[in-house]
Amino acid sequence: MKIDNIDLTNFRNYKRTNLKLYPSKNIIIGNNGTGKTNILESIYLVANTRSFRANDDSEMILKGEESSRVIINTEGHDYKVIITKNGKNLFIDNTNIKKASDFIGHINAVLFKPDDLELFSHGPRYRRKTIDLELSKISKEYLNAILTYNKLIKDKNALLKENVIDDIYLNTLEDRMIKPISVIIKERELLIDHLDHNIKEYYAKLSGHHEDIKIEYKKCSEADYDSIKKMINDNHRRDLFYHYAVTGPHKDDYIFYFNGSEVINYASQGQKRLLMLSFKLSIVDYIIKRTDERPILLLDDILSELDIDNKRRLLSILPNNIQTIITATDIKDIDLKEDHRLFKLERRRNENGQ
Ligand SMILES: Nc1ncnc2c1ncn2[C@@H]1O[C@H](COP(=O)(O)OP(=O)(O)OP(=O)(O)O)[C@@H](O)[C@H]1O
Ligand SMILES: [Mg+2]
Repeated sequence: MKIDNIDLTNFRNYKRTNLKLYPSKNIIIGNNGTGKTNILESIYLVANTRSFRANDDSEMILKGEESSRVIINTEGHDYKVIITKNGKNLFIDNTNIKKASDFIGHINAVLFKPDDLELFSHGPRYRRKTIDLELSKISKEYLNAILTYNKLIKDKNALLKENVIDDIYLNTLEDRMIKPISVIIKERELLIDHLDHNIKEYYAKLSGHHEDIKIEYKKCSEADYDSIKKMINDNHRRDLFYHYAVTGPHKDDYIFYFNGSEVINYASQGQKRLLMLSFKLSIVDYIIKRTDERPILLLDDILSELDIDNKRRLLSILPNNIQTIITATDIKDIDLKEDHRLFKLERRRNENGQ
């Protein structure tokens, strides 16, 4: 998958802008507030039908305007998102697509943003969400399993809060959970196994140092029917006592280790950044392995907090056959020998001359 062209109309700070992207590395430089992240956001919007930072879609409409439009042209197809204050419309080759799930996945983008480092410091819920998001794009079976499981766990928790509990209904819900739980655990195991093998190699290439990096999947059960059934039965009394389902894939976690210690307690800011980038690059590999599609890599502000050597190494390590868009405030420490296209953003004056 390669993007040829991005066309923005009334999107964030852009009145009208067109960017012709290079098939490999694209570097967008500009001072703070010039609209670098906004460009990545527009691509992310078309990939996922939502922003990674707006609470409300209408925040993406240029102030004072009624609607916003993003068009992305790839080899052979046009993807268009129109945002109005009343909602959004999705089009592929000018055909209106009604269901977001039919639009998502045509453009697959992997994004690094500075606050992704929260993966290491936030609680398990954040990590589950991150992994679920990636796996849902890779496997429709996983997406369906997660949606089914979430609905069942919601029903189970509601039932556990009732004064008199209908045992037959509870057993029915629990039996229905077994299959989706098995799919969820298997898919998570496969991904974590892949990451556990690949992250340290990327990290060594990016940092020039071999470190012992591990990811552990803390799962509620093995993925086979009997183990899941046993896990549910073993927790039955606790569920009834606490009035909610105390264990299951909705409580699983992923722990990142750096030289034997948890990353959160041990790694420096720069090391966390390189680790996160290694994580994203390993995800890209996994997407290719599973879907045969090459996702687009969006790297927002990746260079800050990296020392000169790491900055210089970074561009040469990024694979040339993956279309990558990197934002930075300056290029002074970037090794520009690599094949790339450079975009320079300038601060625009708005209509009031401010
Ligand atoms: N809806 C909107 N209408 C007009 N301008 C907007 C809108 N939303 C955001 N902006 C402007 O977009 C700019 C921020 O863009 P962006 O976050 O892409 O900057 P950036 O180049 O990534 O900066 P930094 O280097 O600080 O990350 C700000 O100047 C902000 O005022
Ligand atoms: Mg930015």
